[in-house]
Amino acid sequence: MRSLSKLFVTTIGIGVLSAAAHAQAPWPSRSISLVVPFAAGGPTDVVARTLAGSMSRTLGQTVVVDNKLGAGGTVAASFVARAAPDGYTFFIHHNGMATSTALYRKLSYNPLTDFEFVSQAVDVPMTLLARKDFPANNLAELVAYVKANSAKINLANAGLGAVSQLCGMLFERAVGVKLTAVPFQGTAPAMNALLGGQVDILCDQTTQTIPQIKSGTVKLYGVTTRNRIRALPDAPTLNEGGLKDFEVLVWHGIYAPKGTPKPIIDRFNVALRTALKDPDVLKRMADLGAEIAPDAKLSPQGLQTWLKAEIDKWGPIIRAGGTFAD
Ligand code: MLT
Repeated sequence: MRSLSKLFVTTIGIGVLSAAAHAQAPWPSRSISLVVPFAAGGPTDVVARTLAGSMSRTLGQTVVVDNKLGAGGTVAASFVARAAPDGYTFFIHHNGMATSTALYRKLSYNPLTDFEFVSQAVDVPMTLLARKDFPANNLAELVAYVKANSAKINLANAGLGAVSQLCGMLFERAVGVKLTAVPFQGTAPAMNALLGGQVDILCDQTTQTIPQIKSGTVKLYGVTTRNRIRALPDAPTLNEGGLKDFEVLVWHGIYAPKGTPKPIIDRFNVALRTALKDPDVLKRMADLGAEIAPDAKLSPQGLQTWLKAEIDKWGPIIRAGGTFAD
C-alpha cells in the first residue's frame, strides 16, 4: 500500500514537472497554424501564403496555412474563437469580420470580444469582371445589359460575408437590379467557373484577378477603389465609369483566440511587420495590386479600432438591403 501511494505521488510529481517544462517551452516550439477562411489559391490565401513564408523565417518555425471553408468565412472565425489560446492558432480575415455581424442574424462568436488583435496587414482593391465572351464591353454597356437581362444573368460570390458578395450587392444596388447569386467557398472556385463560362459576373480582389486580366481571359469593367491603381493604370474606377461613389477596399487583419498571451501576440506582430518590409513580399504584393496597411494600423489597437469602425460603417448599409442569413 505504501509503495503504491509512493508510485502515485511520484507519477503526479513527474506530471507536474512535465507540465511546468511545457509551460516554459520557448514559443514557438512547433509549427503555427494560420487559418484562412476561404479556398486555397484565392485572394486571401495568396496574401496568407506570401506573409507566412517570410514570417516562418523570422519565427524559426513554419507558419502553416490552414484553409477552413464555409459560410462566407464564419466557419473559420467560429473555429478560431474556440481554439486553444496557446499561440499556435492565428487567423487572417478581411472586411467579412465586420460585415458578417450585419449579414447573419446569429453568429457563434463576437468579432470584438472573442479574439486578440494582432495587426492589419494589406489593403487590396477589387475588380468588376465578366466572363470573356460576355456581351458588354465596358461599364456603360454592362449596366445597360444587366438592366435589360437581369433575369438571366448570374453573379458569383464566396458566400454571405465574402467581399465578393459585398461588392456584388453594392453593384446590384447601384444599378437597381437583382441577379442570381451563385455562391462558392472562395473566389478561387468562382474564378474557375467564370473562366469556364458557367457564371457571368464576379467582383474579386486584384490578388487573384490581375494575372487573369493581364492574360485577357476575363473582361474587366473597372476597379472598386476611389482612385486608379498602379498595378492596373489603364483600368477606370467604377466611379469614373458612372457608378457614383462606388468604393470597396479590402483590408486584411490578423487575429488569435482570446487569451493568447500578449508576449506571443507581440512577437507575431513583429514577425508580420518584418514580413511587410521583406523585399520579396513587397514585390509580390505590388505586382498583385496590394498595398501595405499604414503604420498606424499595424498594431493590435490599430486593428481593433478599425474593426469597430467598419462594423459601424457597414451595418446600416447592409441592413438597408435586408440580406440576412441565420
Ligand atoms: C477568397 O479568398 O476566396 C476571397 O477573399 C473571398 C471573398 O471574400 O470574396
